[in-house]
Amino acid sequence: MIRKIKLSKRPLVCLTAYNKFSAQIIDNYCDLILVGDSLGMAYYGDSSTRSVKLEEIIRHAKSVRKGVKKSVLIVDMPYGTYNTKSNAKKNALKIIKETNCDGIKLEGGKSKAKIISFLVKNKINVMGHIGLLPQNIKNKKSFKIVGQNLKEERKVLEDLNAVEKSGAFAVVLEGVKEKVAKKIIKVSKTPIIGIGAAKGCDGQILVLEDILGFFEKVPKFVKKYLNIKNQIEKAVKKYSYEVRKNKFPTVKNVYK
Ligand code: KIV
Repeated sequence: MIRKIKLSKRPLVCLTAYNKFSAQIIDNYCDLILVGDSLGMAYYGDSSTRSVKLEEIIRHAKSVRKGVKKSVLIVDMPYGTYNTKSNAKKNALKIIKETNCDGIKLEGGKSKAKIISFLVKNKINVMGHIGLLPQNIKNKKSFKIVGQNLKEERKVLEDLNAVEKSGAFAVVLEGVKEKVAKKIIKVSKTPIIGIGAAKGCDGQILVLEDILGFFEKVPKFVKKYLNIKNQIEKAVKKYSYEVRKNKFPTVKNVYK
C-alpha cells in the first residue's frame, strides 16, 4: 500500500498517536499512524525517548489499535529492544502479536542493516529511521541537526543504502540539512518520510502533541496548527471559577 502511494506521487500523511481517542480523530486524515517512542518525552515528560519500555509501548499501541480503522499502524521498537537479531525478532513478534499492528520501526542505518534484513526475512514489515536518531540522545539539549559536513552527509547516504538493501518498506529521515535531504530523496527507491527534512519527501510525519501546541518550545521543523495549551487553560480557568463561585454544577448536571 505504501509503495503504491509512492508511485502516485501524493505525499503520505503520517502522525503519531498514543491512545485510542486521538487515533480515532486522526485516522481519517492519515495514511500512517505511528505509536512512536516520542511517547517518553511528549506524553510522560521524560528527558529522552530511552525511558520507554517494551510493555509501555505495547500498552499504548493496543489502545491506538482500537482507534485505527484505515491507516497503516506502525509501532516503534524501544531503546535496547533490538540489539541482536534474536531479541529484535522476539520483541518485534511480541509487539505485532499483542497489538495487531502492521509493522515496526527501528532506528539506525548501516549498523542495524543485518537486523532489518533478518526481520524482513522473517516476514516482519520494517520501517527504517536514519539521520538524527533520538535514541542516541540522552537529553533534549544534545539534539543536533545532521548533515553539517561531507562526512555526515556521506554517512546518511550510506545509511539509506543499507536500510534500503535490507528491505525496509519506508524510511523516516529526521533532522537533516535540506540539501542532504534532497539528495536522499533523489536517489531513494524507498518511500522517504521526512521530519525536519525537506519538501519533496514521499511523506511527512510529526508528533501530534507538537502540532496541537501542547508545548511552548518545539523544534523549528514543527508547525503548530493549534494552541491547545491556551484552550485547556481557558477551559480549566472557567471551571475553577464556576466551582469556587458555586455556579457549577447547575440543574442540568444533577440527577433528579
Ligand atoms: O518516536 C517518534 O514519534 C518518531 C517520529 C516522530 C518519527 O520516531
